[in-house]
Amino acid sequence: MSTDTDQQRTILVTSALPYANGSLHIGHMVEYIQTDIWVRFQRMQGHDCYYVCADDTHGTAIMLRAEAEGITPEQLIERIRGERLADFAGFNVEFDNYHSTHSDENRELATGMYLALKDAGKITTRTIEQFFDPEKGIFLADRFIKGECPKCHTKDQYGDACESCGTTYSPTELINPFSAISGATPVMKESEHYFFKLSECEDFLNQWMAGDLNQHGHESLPIESRNKLQEWFEAGLMDWDISRDAPYFGFEIPDAPGKYFYVWLDAPVGYMSSFKNLCDRTEGLNFDDFWAPDSKAELYHFIGKDILNFHALFWPATLHYAGYRTPDQICVHGFLTVNSEKMSKSRGTFITASSYLEHLNPEYLRYYFAAKLNDKIEDIDLNLEDYVARVNSNVVGKFVNIASRTAGFIAKRFDGKLAASMDDTGLALNNKIQAASDEIATLYNDRKFSEAVRAIMDLADEVNEYIAALEPWKMVKDEATLADAHLVCTSSLNAFRLLTVYLKPILPVMAEKIEGLFNIEPLQWSDSQILLTDQPMNKFKHLAQRIEMTQVDAMVDANKDSLVNKGETHSQVRHAEKQQHEHPAIAETISIDDFAKIDLRVAKIINAEHVEGADKLLQLTLDIGKEQRNVFAGIKSAYAPEDLIGKHTVMVANLAPRKMRFGVSEGMVLAAGPGGKDLFILEPHEGAKPGMKIK
Ligand code: 2FM
Ligand code: ZN
Repeated sequence: MSTDTDQQRTILVTSALPYANGSLHIGHMVEYIQTDIWVRFQRMQGHDCYYVCADDTHGTAIMLRAEAEGITPEQLIERIRGERLADFAGFNVEFDNYHSTHSDENRELATGMYLALKDAGKITTRTIEQFFDPEKGIFLADRFIKGECPKCHTKDQYGDACESCGTTYSPTELINPFSAISGATPVMKESEHYFFKLSECEDFLNQWMAGDLNQHGHESLPIESRNKLQEWFEAGLMDWDISRDAPYFGFEIPDAPGKYFYVWLDAPVGYMSSFKNLCDRTEGLNFDDFWAPDSKAELYHFIGKDILNFHALFWPATLHYAGYRTPDQICVHGFLTVNSEKMSKSRGTFITASSYLEHLNPEYLRYYFAAKLNDKIEDIDLNLEDYVARVNSNVVGKFVNIASRTAGFIAKRFDGKLAASMDDTGLALNNKIQAASDEIATLYNDRKFSEAVRAIMDLADEVNEYIAALEPWKMVKDEATLADAHLVCTSSLNAFRLLTVYLKPILPVMAEKIEGLFNIEPLQWSDSQILLTDQPMNKFKHLAQRIEMTQVDAMVDANKDSLVNKGETHSQVRHAEKQQHEHPAIAETISIDDFAKIDLRVAKIINAEHVEGADKLLQLTLDIGKEQRNVFAGIKSAYAPEDLIGKHTVMVANLAPRKMRFGVSEGMVLAAGPGGKDLFILEPHEGAKPGMKIK
């Protein structure tokens, strides 16, 4: 990236558009926080920096989910949009625009791009053969086909790879394939598909990758990604299938009834259409200034390593041949692990953005991620104990502590005003912090956030050492040293303000509070060259709270619970836990009142049947006296439906109904055991009648 931070720059930045079919989790937040920090930094530098994003709304998954919920895809994406906006606002991720790929602008731009590619001779058609679900009337993408692994014979494996032995294969190689949607046996069927001739784009992509088309003097991709691209070139680029057959939720291809753009064709166009929507609403902001081939604006896409092919092959090539400019750089990051492992629902480490926000301060996660992020494609780990320790020690113990130890005296002893000068040591320290401005700016600009944080915290250490050596709390007690104490507090608070400038991209909310404390305008990067003397200050208010491990535990517990709420039985949760802990500890003690909240009833199983397309569930009809309930229970591995009909069991009768893919589940039956064949549903002694309350 350009390291020239003096010149005025015009920059457009995007983060990957999240699929509108599920909640955001903290793994997603790595990217949005990383991008937001970078954008905030550029704005503090005085650059014109726009940050846009949108929901990625098309495709089969969204269509099927909406169908299962009994709503239209439009209703589903509208609901998800509401959740998204709340999550982003909660983490202080500040887009200039958050749009949708299901928008007029996107239809127009995607269609226009396709027609331009067609005119350029880059579109071709070909008849392909693909698995088709005869019951559902739908072609099946690999992930919607299941069957037995041809290598290790594990059942229930997806159409592209075996989760058990890791072999990759084509869905036609599966033994006894079935549709994951309806359970039907798929048949092979022909259909005409539209292709983008990626096979003709290698020379262009080589040029783009080398940065030859880039006016801003840097590589288009990190080195690891360039190597990956090279591998793809060596394997030979294949034409890209850009069409899908109806039924499909997306945009119909012009002059091709029943054919739709594949979701990945119009998804990145969402970057453009979100920006177009912003231009249409913003005086003086011109779309072509950013997207025409001779654009002087810089364009950066922040993405995760899993979607590199879409952004480093298809996207630059389709942009170029459709007559647009290409991205300056694709900024690729790794994945998030929690406690060194893949995020896991059963461990409660699959933490949704909204549940984090319910339990913990968003700025603390911003800080922790910043302290770990760099310009490499490395995975980053959120170690929950380290997170608590690091935030408490750095944000609260080092940074905020500077103000906590000195700001109170300004109001109490010095008429609410900084002194007219500083002591020599304090001034030298402030000058040192000021001198670090360019170095820290370069680290931010190069996305080496962890190094920036380290440099800032080293300076905070020096300020704390200075305060500890002079002990202003002792100086204020003696009239002879009172005036010197004023100088020391003034030096310390100036240093605090300078460090606030440097931390503001990461901690924007805390920075705003600190601006309020100093009575100053929003801090810009150039404010690091100014020192404040004789300045009236507001009364110091508490700035930050330490994190307690119990808050983290509560969040992890809440995310464990959400698995149960998502329609899985308690026994499945226990099964997952048993794999890690052979003998899980007895849960936290609850009061009798807590227990009384659970309404347990004797239920008679009056019907039980298989659920089409569900691997683990049986559908039960339960009689609980005055009413009947429909419950999906994850007990298929242990019971045949006919063994259950007529039996009595125990159900949670006041559990909130849960919409599942197969219908609404109106409660939960209780079962014990680790899972698989070892699952035992509870049965009351003879004489118990349906509807009896269990106390
Ligand atoms: O991987 C994903 O979640 C995609 N929805 C990202 C799309 S990024 C862009 F190309 F739209
Ligand atoms: Zn296998």
